[in-house]
Amino acid sequence: SDPDLVARAAAAKAALGDKVFVLGHHYQRDEVIQFADVTGDSFKLAREAAARPDAEYIVFCGVHFMAESADILTSDAQRVVLPDLAAGCSMADMAALPQVENAWDVLTDVGVAERTIPVTYMNSSADIKGFVGRHGGVVCTSSNAKRALEWAYEQGEKVLFLPDQHLGRNTAVLEMGFSLDDCVLYDPHKPGGGLTPEQLRDARMILWRGHCSVHGRFTLESVNDVRERVPGVNVLVHPECRHEVVKAADLVGSTEFIIRTISAAPAGSAWAVGTELNLVRRLALAHPDKQIMFLDRAVCYCSTMNRIDLPHLVWALEELVAGRVVNQITVDADTAHHARVALDQMLALPG
Ligand code: 13P
Ligand code: SF4
Repeated sequence: SDPDLVARAAAAKAALGDKVFVLGHHYQRDEVIQFADVTGDSFKLAREAAARPDAEYIVFCGVHFMAESADILTSDAQRVVLPDLAAGCSMADMAALPQVENAWDVLTDVGVAERTIPVTYMNSSADIKGFVGRHGGVVCTSSNAKRALEWAYEQGEKVLFLPDQHLGRNTAVLEMGFSLDDCVLYDPHKPGGGLTPEQLRDARMILWRGHCSVHGRFTLESVNDVRERVPGVNVLVHPECRHEVVKAADLVGSTEFIIRTISAAPAGSAWAVGTELNLVRRLALAHPDKQIMFLDRAVCYCSTMNRIDLPHLVWALEELVAGRVVNQITVDADTAHHARVALDQMLALPG
């Protein structure tokens, strides 16, 4: 990265001292991650944000929904900054509040809403988390989806899982013993979700039709292809991948799990990793004694994560030094209150 920008970022951080805390998601660019005070998956970063009451500014190098969660979990006096406001998430955008409210009306008309607990993946807007908090549900991440679902099934009979169909299906079927027939797919673009009242009554898991465009690119062919090319390879994927990809893989888990697994793997072992490319590249560099490759032949960055680059980080930090807070992310008090209920419920899950 540009040495001048590196020096400016370092100087701005030094000038701000303990006033600023920089969080970096594992999918961030190298040029950005080098300035993170802590790196993590979305669960770890939410906990880290909540554990920094003394930092006046939290600069979130990640995407919009993560910065919103940080704002919800920190005090009113703390300001959360997202260096580029265009760093959204296409998956989070697949569930808009009016669509989810409409789905809840459908469940109410069919007579199942009372017995349904909404569970939302962290990768959703604050509005959606607020909806879930208002309806007695919980937030989950890829690190704790099973525990969150177990909790939800203690509270009710059915789950409406938002917005990632793959995380919901993979967790229910591969970790909790559900059958594929226990799950139905609710399409917000179709009347009634495209489901009959009987299907909604019979289902145990109502999956929202959302997905991650990055992890959705891996296919069964990617897995078969790498197994053919690299005999003995271990296939390790994120649970946002399609069901058939996760089923064909050797191991599945969150980004923190992926990092732990690779770190503990024996020298000489070969790993094909199905997650975002910035992370896979860094893992390969950090473990030259292991053969670490990207699961697919095509490159596959998360384009919105990549919106946060060094020029944007430098700009945000230098503005803070000058006493100006740019790109502040705020969640209105009512939404934040209810979203916090669902987030706190997640943070209180056992384990
Ligand atoms: P985790 O950080 O929970 O593994 O999620 C991956 C992701 O897609 C973040 O946007
Ligand atoms: Fe959203 Fe997928 Fe990018 Fe994560 S990797 S921010 S889920 S689009």
